[in-house]
Amino acid sequence: MTAVSGITPSGHLTLGNYLGALRRFAEPTDKPGFYFVADLHAMTTLHDPKRLGSLTRETALLMLASGLPDESVFIQSAVPAHAQLAYLLECTAYVGELSRMVQYKEKGRGKPMTRGSLFTYPCLMAADILLYGAQRVPVGGDQDQHVELARDLAIRFNRTYGRTFVVPELHRATTAGRVRDLLTPTAKMSKSDPDEAGGVLRILDSPDVLRRKVMRAVTDSDATVRHDAVAKPGVTNLLEILGACTGTPPVEVAARYTSYGDLKADTADAVVALLEPVQSRYAELAADPRSVDKLLAAGRDRAIAFAQPQLDAATRAIGLRS
Ligand code: TYM
Repeated sequence: MTAVSGITPSGHLTLGNYLGALRRFAEPTDKPGFYFVADLHAMTTLHDPKRLGSLTRETALLMLASGLPDESVFIQSAVPAHAQLAYLLECTAYVGELSRMVQYKEKGRGKPMTRGSLFTYPCLMAADILLYGAQRVPVGGDQDQHVELARDLAIRFNRTYGRTFVVPELHRATTAGRVRDLLTPTAKMSKSDPDEAGGVLRILDSPDVLRRKVMRAVTDSDATVRHDAVAKPGVTNLLEILGACTGTPPVEVAARYTSYGDLKADTADAVVALLEPVQSRYAELAADPRSVDKLLAAGRDRAIAFAQPQLDAATRAIGLRS
């Protein structure tokens, strides 16, 4: 089964990106998947070209450092078929369904300076998926709506122009599908928050910084350790993080603790232990830029070899070339 997924270089990656996505990309599958830095997706809102370049490189290194098969990693913009198929899918999607996408509704609708790409990028994401004939799309819970749209567009295209695309399946994350911000546990932990945000654990934060952030996590005044996302979002988030780091169901984790202090200390240790090997592999790769360039070029070439025939098939089916 072929898997595909991407990460937008819109900030320094977080523990949420690691648990909800990166770690799942590295799970063994029968064929190596396609994992890319979604740099084209990082331009839907105001962006700084220099920062985009450095975050793209950092994200690529983190993907390689997370244990993905070498040739499975590439940079999206190095494979022109993504942008080309996106246009064909814009010619397949309806304004109505694009207007209902949460990102656009929350960040863009009604604002005159909203970039057109914030409205259309779900078609680009559908292209990212459909180009590789992927059945499996490992993503965190916040991406479900996008994968559903990719499914709808594949079905519509196939029905209108003849069978062209594999219809992808949504594989919901069973644990850590939505890691919360440590200081605002009702919100998702987000890489696009300001760099200094105290509630966001970054994959490349030093062990001291990770510990300090976890120890300052918001809990509540009722001192019982219990898994209850509505009444106790902060404590529940810590239980989910510790559970995901140690491979234990969060409810079982809860039964082992009577104090918030112990829960925080163990969560901090578990996060540091989980990220430490990724950080050291990242440092090795960062010290060897030529090897990284080679790996990314190999990833790009393999991606082009798979994507081009799929783009050609769609181009023919829609009537552009006979
Ligand atoms: P992005 O860059 O926002 O997030 C990358 C991946 O990390 C997951 N994630 C989380 N999981 C758990 N808890 C969190 N707090 C958390 N924050 C983020 C996301 O669900 C995602 O899996 N549009 C996509 C990137 C993309 C893509 C694709 C994904 C572009 N093309 C094709 C899959 C297939 C995005 O911006 O993800």
